[in-house]
Amino acid sequence: MIFDAKEFIQEAIEETKKKVTGRAIIACSGGVDSTVAAAIVNEAVGDQLTAVFVDTGYLRKGEAEEVRAMYASIGLNLRFVDASEEYYEALAGVSDPETKRKIIGERFIRIFERVAKEVDADFLIQGTIAPDWIESGGGARDVIKSHHNVGGLPKDMALTVYEPLRDLYKDEVRKVARQLELPIAERQPFPGPGLAVRVLGEPTRERTAIVREACAIVEEELEKAVASGEMTELPWQYFAALLPVRSVGVQGDLRAYGETIAVRAVASIDAMTATHMRIPHSVLDRISRRITNKMKDQVNRVVYDITDKPPGSIEWE
Ligand code: XMP
Repeated sequence: MIFDAKEFIQEAIEETKKKVTGRAIIACSGGVDSTVAAAIVNEAVGDQLTAVFVDTGYLRKGEAEEVRAMYASIGLNLRFVDASEEYYEALAGVSDPETKRKIIGERFIRIFERVAKEVDADFLIQGTIAPDWIESGGGARDVIKSHHNVGGLPKDMALTVYEPLRDLYKDEVRKVARQLELPIAERQPFPGPGLAVRVLGEPTRERTAIVREACAIVEEELEKAVASGEMTELPWQYFAALLPVRSVGVQGDLRAYGETIAVRAVASIDAMTATHMRIPHSVLDRISRRITNKMKDQVNRVVYDITDKPPGSIEWE
């Protein structure tokens, strides 16, 4: 059966009106899922909804400013929380991926609870979509990763969770976003735990700054290549990860011992499977040169990930 976005929206608004009977807050990340969920609930309950956007310190370059401007333009009642210090502290010394996700998720929920008390909310709206809970062990499957939206929920949470998109896949959420004319319909996905899962090992402020810059360069170079016709279309998702591997290189006449950046670009429809993109070497070349020039004291090696999902996952953690 073909997914009908218009029908879905009408039904979701009706359903939300019935289920969300008090004041609500939504965890907005600026991504497609949470923005669509917020827009639908905003349509259904209007001012009853407060959208909470947390700067975790693991956002991409310029993201906090862009997201704030976008939410203002769609009329959401927004509460911005800068929690970056708190997050860097909570993740000091933590390098296990699942522990990172749990800490980040829990902290998110605690912040929302704090705001929820202030606005006297009873409901927590989440932008969870089907792959999030399927991969988090919902149903009969093994736990692959604790997705941020699900894994961090504490058992004693005092808010009722409502997830208007939980039966949708990514391509369907995008169709809904287009139908709602949201400016983020074509935005690439970004994981809830943000750059923390793109820094393998301890996600310190310094290492996060490296991956943030590398991600920005990957995005810019691929977008330029598409704009100039060197590539026909953007990958479904494209980013950099900072590996926990240092290697020997040369800088001037001296031996250097620097960091490694992995570039990832994949084609996918719903994130359940993915294939690595055949990026032209000229584009990869520019990415590598820019990263190693811009961060010459830190990064001396750039590699391209040619693994599909499965057996890899899209993110490295
Ligand atoms: P993986 O790495 O599992 O990722 O192949 C599949 C898709 O999900 C994104 N992703 C997340 N999204 N919370 C999210 O909302 C998360 O914790 C999370 N982890 C991964 C990932 O970027 C990819 O698009």
